[in-house]
Amino acid sequence: MRGPVPLAHLLLRQVVKAGDRVVDATCGNGKDTLLLAELVGETGQVWAFDIQSEALERTHQRLDAAGLADRVTLLACGHETLATLVPSLVCAVIFNLGWLPGGDRAIITEPATTLPALEGALQILDEGGLLLITCYPGHAGGDRETETVLTWATALDAQRFHVWRMGQLNVDQSAPFCLLVQKAISRHAA
Ligand SMILES: C[S@@+](CC[C@H](N)C(=O)[O-])C[C@H]1O[C@@H](n2cnc3c(N)ncnc32)[C@H](O)[C@@H]1O
Repeated sequence: MRGPVPLAHLLLRQVVKAGDRVVDATCGNGKDTLLLAELVGETGQVWAFDIQSEALERTHQRLDAAGLADRVTLLACGHETLATLVPSLVCAVIFNLGWLPGGDRAIITEPATTLPALEGALQILDEGGLLLITCYPGHAGGDRETETVLTWATALDAQRFHVWRMGQLNVDQSAPFCLLVQKAISRHAA
């Protein structure tokens, strides 16, 4: 497994089942969206956000080629709006921060919108659900955003959220890594 994205996919494959509802907060080229659309099956639903029309178009083409476009609601909106636009609880939310691969590197995710988006993701996450965040400390601007996200994640209440950092040890420490936040299952539900 090379890099954090395959690791995030491994976790999604464990958790997301047919009929589930999930969010891709940064659809980009649509690779994560496609996996989610496959996992939720015919009866599930994916909401996918991006602020760039180029990203939404690439994602639509990828889904269309796979015959899965009808399971995905593509939203040309910032992910900071996700808690108001996604109408139900979801079992997974994925963020892949940074710039659009093959796109304009000046357009990156920004702490000012990433933080409210992460808060919104926790609001719509069902108990036991996963929030996955791939951070890029080695990118211009990504270092500042990574610090902000780490500070936010570290401060989450350990009774309510299980927070993990998953990064490869035998690579440069500015390499991307993945954060996992699982919403705890309350005792009433257990
Ligand atoms: C690293 S890419 C995502 C890669 C994608 N998950 C894939 O599988 O190809 C990051 C994306 O975040 C998008 N983005 C930046 N700010 C955003 C925001 N406020 N809301 C939603 N998407 C945003 C960028 O346009 C870019 O396409």
